[in-house]
Amino acid sequence: GKVAVLMGGRSAEREVSLMSGQGVLQALRARGVDAHAFDPAQQPMDELQRQGFARCFIALHGRFGEDGTVQGALELLGIPYTGAGVMASSMSIDKVMTKRVWQAEGLPTPRHVLLQRGHFTAAQVCDIPAQLGLPLIVKPAREGSSLGVTKVTTASQMQDAVAAAVALDTDVLCEQFIAGDEVTCPVLGAGSDARALPVIHIVAPEGQYDYQNKYFTDVTEYRVPCNLPAGEEAAIQALVVKAYRVLGCRGWGRVDVMIDAATRQPYLLEINTSPGMTGHSLVPMAAKADGVSYEDLCVQLLADASL
Ligand code: DAL
Ligand code: MG
Repeated sequence: GKVAVLMGGRSAEREVSLMSGQGVLQALRARGVDAHAFDPAQQPMDELQRQGFARCFIALHGRFGEDGTVQGALELLGIPYTGAGVMASSMSIDKVMTKRVWQAEGLPTPRHVLLQRGHFTAAQVCDIPAQLGLPLIVKPAREGSSLGVTKVTTASQMQDAVAAAVALDTDVLCEQFIAGDEVTCPVLGAGSDARALPVIHIVAPEGQYDYQNKYFTDVTEYRVPCNLPAGEEAAIQALVVKAYRVLGCRGWGRVDVMIDAATRQPYLLEINTSPGMTGHSLVPMAAKADGVSYEDLCVQLLADASL
């Protein structure tokens, strides 16, 4: 039947989603799928039912797409969709909630302080470097693609960093910075069948793996195979599969991790339940290294679409 590729949407990552969606749409069509673009920012979700769509590939990122809201609408409409269900999506979009689940399960994640719009003082903000050390990271709790993220290196930057993040979200995560290797690892499947793809080592100039260098430049180096010291890739793969399973994810996800340079301890940063599928994105890169083409990946994810 007809497949809708949900793309665009009304989050700050709309532009990225349009790129992901175009890639997915072309791939599915190349494989003979009757796929059509559908932008929930331009049409109400119930149009999916009226237009006779049998399944949805969710290529939306961020809020109103990756956060359980679209998933909930599809549940109500009875249309199977790719990726995580309602609860796993809504927990995973929220980096603070995600960290609480991981901490409760004994999984390593950097220390943090949560600030909520209207409920914190300038004095509290000033105090955070003393609690978390410097540098530290300030980010909106529910954004993606590094939007609103600041690496704070001196205490004087704190107020501006918090202002930038709180402009995008009511919840702001201040997080201990782990100096070391930045890696990411996709997970496919569900429950006890969940499996990790190869780990990708991201080497960005001076640690600037920001929005621009994620999508619009070629200055970031992606190492796959990651060539980490012996045993580390397998340990990270085992860790990210646990991280994915405790959140109840299914379909796919990508877990971002920092490896402490001094101790080689990996720390879980966040999980993306609707990862980027742009020409620069990481899940397709890891899949390719595993012998799975972009088209195969899209077809597989669609085949696993469920309610
Ligand atoms: N949030 C972007 C799309 C990603 O994680 O790939
Ligand atoms: Mg993210």
